[in-house]
Amino acid sequence: MKKYKIGSFSLFIFLSIFNMACSFNNTNKNTMDTATITTKDFGTFEGKRITEYTLTNVAGMQVGIINYGGILTKIITKDKAGDFGDVITGYDSLEGYLQKGNPYFGALIGRYANRLAKGTYTIDGITYHAALNNNGQSLHGGLKGFDKVVWDAVALPGDSSLQLSYKSIDGEEGYPGNLQVQVVYTLTANNSIKIEYTASSDKNTVINFTNHAYFNLSAGKSPNIYEHIVQLKADKYTPVDTSLIPTGALLDVKGTPMDFTTPKKVGQDIDKVTGGYDHNWVLNKGEGLAEIASVYEPNSGRYLTVATTEPGIQFYTGNFLTGNLTGTKKGIIYNKHYALTLETQHFPDSPNQPDFPSTLLKPGETYHQTTVFSFSTK
Ligand code: GLA
Repeated sequence: MKKYKIGSFSLFIFLSIFNMACSFNNTNKNTMDTATITTKDFGTFEGKRITEYTLTNVAGMQVGIINYGGILTKIITKDKAGDFGDVITGYDSLEGYLQKGNPYFGALIGRYANRLAKGTYTIDGITYHAALNNNGQSLHGGLKGFDKVVWDAVALPGDSSLQLSYKSIDGEEGYPGNLQVQVVYTLTANNSIKIEYTASSDKNTVINFTNHAYFNLSAGKSPNIYEHIVQLKADKYTPVDTSLIPTGALLDVKGTPMDFTTPKKVGQDIDKVTGGYDHNWVLNKGEGLAEIASVYEPNSGRYLTVATTEPGIQFYTGNFLTGNLTGTKKGIIYNKHYALTLETQHFPDSPNQPDFPSTLLKPGETYHQTTVFSFSTK
């Protein structure tokens, strides 16, 4: 066997070239140097490779996305002292996301975000039955929603956007029509995450999409979100029955624990709402993109605003977290009320509520949703 002796200089040259080759493979750096996308192997699911894409902007903010479930795996932002921290819940590896009872951490949700009463709805006189997975209701798309499928991922030119595509076939989880869905995640230079959804179907169908990121803006320093100060620009909400299905009424928030029209600590009234907040607020907005919510965490100084084109938002305070999830990031125990979600959406059970904004998508139409999460400090 031949032995090659490599001098330290040659080794240095070799390693430099090797490094360059690796970064060429894994990092697309554009000429403006505005952002980068790096990739990391994240395991396999159903024989398909799962990759974590990390988008990093000039300010150093990082966003991780995997093609399993289109899941946001990390959002690393600065606090007021300039220290970076991860502000969403998640796991260190794919196994965590695959565990039974994973409460949709960071995932894309479809075909129908939130609940459909008894999974049943009617289009053009035909009654459909969506898969039941939540106390006799259909929640977040059923047994295998968009959060549990592998999306095709492509980094778009410009190095700050990742495009995910998925074709949901006619009848999947009890929904009619072949549905082509695209979601583009963009990390902007000024620390916003823009999520743009488009979809089209070859049959009349119903859809409702959202992202299910759970935020705790302390980045692991606080075990709950009671000190987070939330504002929701909504004068009304949709009350629910004991199965968390809307009654169909729109109630005024004024004078109730549901009132977040002026910024309020989450902990102020949470005990007055059974289990905590898990409701859809009716946003004070018309068509188009508008800023409708904010969250401020005074200790870190992190400030998050949410803008959306959607008519509603599910503000959920992690009421069903029980601290039993394994493989969590840094071993953090996610107990009840550890984090909150801001799920921009159409109202739950809209297909059965004629007075709610329609969730019907017809052939020839293109569904659009834009939601933007913007991070800063104050
Ligand atoms: C949504 C629902 C909650 C809960 C979570 C997932 O936010 O509104 O009731 O099911 O998803 O655990």
